[in-house]
Amino acid sequence: MANFDPKLPYNALPDLPPHADIESKAILKKCILARAALAELKQAGELIPNQNVLINTIPLREAQGSSQIENIITTTDRLYEFAATESQAMDANTKEAFRYRTALYQGYKDAHRHPISTRTAVQVCRTIKGVEMEIRATPGTALRNDATGDIIYTPPEGQDRLHNQLGNWERFIHNETEVDPLIRMAIAHYQFEAIHPFTDGNGRTGRILNILYLIGEGLLEIPVLYLSRHIIENKDDYYRLLMEVTAKNNWEEWIIYMLSAIEETAKWTTNKIRGVRNLMGSANEFVHQAAPGVFRQELVELTFVQPYCRISDLVDAGIAERRTASKYLKILSDIGYLHPAKIGRDKLFINTRFLALLMDEENDYEFPRPG
Ligand SMILES: Nc1ncnc2c1ncn2[C@@H]1O[C@H](COP(=O)(O)OP(=O)(O)O)[C@@H](O)[C@H]1O
Ligand SMILES: [Mg+2]
Repeated sequence: MANFDPKLPYNALPDLPPHADIESKAILKKCILARAALAELKQAGELIPNQNVLINTIPLREAQGSSQIENIITTTDRLYEFAATESQAMDANTKEAFRYRTALYQGYKDAHRHPISTRTAVQVCRTIKGVEMEIRATPGTALRNDATGDIIYTPPEGQDRLHNQLGNWERFIHNETEVDPLIRMAIAHYQFEAIHPFTDGNGRTGRILNILYLIGEGLLEIPVLYLSRHIIENKDDYYRLLMEVTAKNNWEEWIIYMLSAIEETAKWTTNKIRGVRNLMGSANEFVHQAAPGVFRQELVELTFVQPYCRISDLVDAGIAERRTASKYLKILSDIGYLHPAKIGRDKLFINTRFLALLMDEENDYEFPRPG
């Protein structure tokens, strides 16, 4: 790698598999921990009766976090609001982060039918960017240091070359089956970022592909792993270690970094799901006691599937017709379960405790105990 110059297209990017020990003792040890944490997350997810409670909400954290890594700054709060209202008045960054969620969701719907490929990457990147995206055909893409503006990496050039490199990346993901899937994911993520097939959106596309890959491998059921959390908290290492694979062939540290990211965020997400379960239990008790005439489990559940709930959501869910639905939501507000708000033209009833749980690091949220 003596021939690596950050200012020149890295056309000599080696094909996979790496020429390095990718199954060192340290890597395999970490891999076991990551696998265990992921297995626990998968189980925890299955304990929530309505999977849409998780599918509709936790990926918004990932969308916010992964976009933040690329300096597209919004809040999870605004994302939830946008999910409920789709208000066109919303700022551009929130819309862009929301498209990340859409790309993740669409990819998830497709993950079992279509294994990850170059096509998946193009599709994901298009959805994130909201415009047509193709594999780069023209030179000029380079990665710069945010603070100094210096070029830190120039990816390979030439559309044919990029297609070939992506072909090798794809074959490695699917054919190298004797290597643990988590190690393969770490390696493939570096390679994808090093190829950098698009003019923009590579980081976010690559991070979505990681989740889709885990789903495709059957290691994750629904797209709830909040992997970007670890990357935000260790962003300097993320950049440094990507660079060190290129400049020093330092695969071991990079792979361990990614395995740690999986382990830690799987644990984080498992705890969050436990918090959701507890809160749903306490919500059922609270509404049952405070408004027995209105209480129905489907109604309480709906306020978790749609934390910004509207009258039409109740109607669509077949819980009540309009007038009764409106009455129910008023009662749920009167007892302090939901918080009514008017956002634009929308009348919304917000499950504020659930939102707080989703956005907070804390997990022990509850509704007041009756009596
Ligand atoms: N030295 C490097 N080599 C290869 N990829 C890198 C390097 N440093 C950072 N990256 C990747 O590039 C991404 C940023 O590329 P970009 O196309 O702007 O993605 P996005 O638009 O999603 O921000 C980072 O998130 C990271 O994954
Ligand atoms: Mg970018």
